[in-house]
Amino acid sequence: MLRVMVVGGGAREHTLVWKLLQSNRVAEVFVAPGNAGTAAIARNLDISPTDLDALSQAAKDNEIGLAVIGPEAPLSRGIVDILRDLGIPAFGPTGDAALIESSKVFAKRLMHKYGIPCARDAIFSSFDEARDYVKKQALPVIIKADGLAAGKGAIVAQSTEEALSALSDIMEARIFGDAGNQVLVEECLVGQETSLIAFTDGKTVVPMIPARDYKRAFDQDLGPNTGGMGCYSPPSFSDHELTNMLTKTILEPVVQAMAREGKLYKGVLYAGLMLTSDGPKVLEFNARFGDPETQVQIPLLKSDLVDIMLAVIDGTLDQTQVEWSDDACVGVVMASGGYPGSYKTGLPITGLDKVDSDLLIFHAGTGAEGEKICTAGGRVLTVVATGKSVAEAREKVYQNLSLIHFEGCYYRKDIAAEEE
Ligand code: AMP
Ligand code: GLY
Repeated sequence: MLRVMVVGGGAREHTLVWKLLQSNRVAEVFVAPGNAGTAAIARNLDISPTDLDALSQAAKDNEIGLAVIGPEAPLSRGIVDILRDLGIPAFGPTGDAALIESSKVFAKRLMHKYGIPCARDAIFSSFDEARDYVKKQALPVIIKADGLAAGKGAIVAQSTEEALSALSDIMEARIFGDAGNQVLVEECLVGQETSLIAFTDGKTVVPMIPARDYKRAFDQDLGPNTGGMGCYSPPSFSDHELTNMLTKTILEPVVQAMAREGKLYKGVLYAGLMLTSDGPKVLEFNARFGDPETQVQIPLLKSDLVDIMLAVIDGTLDQTQVEWSDDACVGVVMASGGYPGSYKTGLPITGLDKVDSDLLIFHAGTGAEGEKICTAGGRVLTVVATGKSVAEAREKVYQNLSLIHFEGCYYRKDIAAEEE
């Protein structure tokens, strides 16, 4: 029996903990740092996901037999390498392999070298050169900081002024610190945006069921970009044929390219894609599970997640079953008033005990204050329902959402509305 440690504290990690506990190979799950939702089903450890020393000490002390890394920051800093050197199986790419997310310049150079379709770009480390180049580009133009910037590093500039101000913020004011040492200036791709997320052991690529997420804060895709306000699976525009085509033309060549570069990629590989009139092109890669995609994908996974993760680590994914349910899943994020800007925390959440028993509530920014569960972050909960169809799951989730409340809470009313 395994003792498992999950690193991270969002609804994505709560979902992974919930699923891992369903495996009959798991004795106990620890979460660093977790939230009030994970505290109810597992053991939270008061450790930051970027405190690599404390994480590896906790993994040793608790005799962890499988570590699962949620967020990109510990992956890019090499937590998987550290744990592996201690003999602890860790799910996720090594620091070198995580460069596919943590350096957009690395990812673009890799794609150009191996002929993987993506936007035309130019790379700059000098502000003056970037400025001169940007002035000559067609609009809109895309400006991207090279490094990790908590999802805020890509700016779609509608005017030259906006592009120059983004360049100046990144390269002169250095709002993302060293992540802005280099910038990418990209052509703007037009088309339907989609993502493809897969398990890979560095050789075999097994796509997950497709999911559509919603990045903007408000209905009809208005308002500022967020970490994600909701998600559903499967979207009707994304069938098996498209998934297989994207796996063959994008994900498999990328995984082979990483192996050839000496950066064997194991874990979850997430490709953000634009389906253009010229064919699919890559917008970005993430080196991890999606959030909120995980909250609607993992409840549809019929197979044992521990089996899949250990097969990824051992390189035996080709011999492992990854089966998905035919049901549909809709997840809606309840956020604090003001998010993604500033917001209050410590507000009591009511109604969690009133919802249907088959509803899934995955916690993100929550904490316990005495007996009460209170808000502790911007995205507070992902409320998830499954059903025979997306429409059925959608109806169920919205009926229940109105029962949960905290001061100032808001959520989008149009998640999965296009499937009605
Ligand atoms: P990224 O962080 O690279 O995924 O960019 C964030 C978002 O910016 C994407 O989800 C797209 O909506 C948009 N984006 C990024 N690159 C491009 C591009 N070359 N053309 C059009 N939109 C883009
Ligand atoms: N939902 C987008 C992401 O996880 O990056």
